Amino acid sequence: MTTGRPFVFAHRGGADALPEHTLAAYLRALDDGADGVECDVRLTRDGHLVCVHDRRLNRTSNGTGLVSTKTLAELEELDFGSWHAGAGELPPDHLRLLTLDRLLTVLRDYGRPVRLLIETKHPSRYGAEVERRLVEMLRKFDLAEPVAGDPLHVTVMSFAALALRRIRALAPALPTVYLLEIPPPGVSRGRLPFGARIAGPGISLVRSRPTLIRNFQAAGHQTYVWTVNEEPDLDLVLSQGIDGIISDRPRFVIDRLNSA
Ligand code: G3P
Ligand code: CA
Repeated sequence: MTTGRPFVFAHRGGADALPEHTLAAYLRALDDGADGVECDVRLTRDGHLVCVHDRRLNRTSNGTGLVSTKTLAELEELDFGSWHAGAGELPPDHLRLLTLDRLLTVLRDYGRPVRLLIETKHPSRYGAEVERRLVEMLRKFDLAEPVAGDPLHVTVMSFAALALRRIRALAPALPTVYLLEIPPPGVSRGRLPFGARIAGPGISLVRSRPTLIRNFQAAGHQTYVWTVNEEPDLDLVLSQGIDGIISDRPRFVIDRLNSA
């Protein structure tokens, strides 16, 4: 069990206040005091890693179709922010597509140490290409082998054990989170696959399995829980001594931790 204050991560950059995965959202969350941010990555047709959650563009941009069938240049033409009520008067260039390259640059230079959770989506659809390009990019930023005191600490997350296996093969020192919705029996007893250091259960799983976090703790794993947006869920995870809280409402979590 953690003895300290849990890390607060802004889910998709803090999807409640501002449009998810925009630079505006990531910067707001950090300015509000989040320890880090969570980012989903996908590959464009021409092989660039971009911060987009959905397979399709329709929900979070004025484009249509699959992210994977568009080039980076095509995606950069789109508006990823105006659909959201919080977009307001924010600078238009903070509401465009965000590449992982740009996000890493901004976070590394933010001015205080920050953490980034990178979730790779759909390892089977892209072959091993997402993980290969991700590790290549982290090496470019000298982030594949974390060292204490780094201005940016990266952890890779996936629901797919296959992705964790690939990351371990490509970059054994990179910490990983095994995300869980319905865990296989061995995992429920605390065993994580392919060297994952951290368990990442969804909040509905934590609600329904009162012993789950204790099992991970007994096995020596940290636990990061997603997506914790409401008071009762926050009470629950805090009472269990978790290590990281992933929330669409990081400000709400930080205020609560500060008032404790
Ligand atoms: O942090 C894990 C969480 O992001 C997984 O769910 O659908 O928001 O990517 P999703
Ligand atoms: Ca995610």
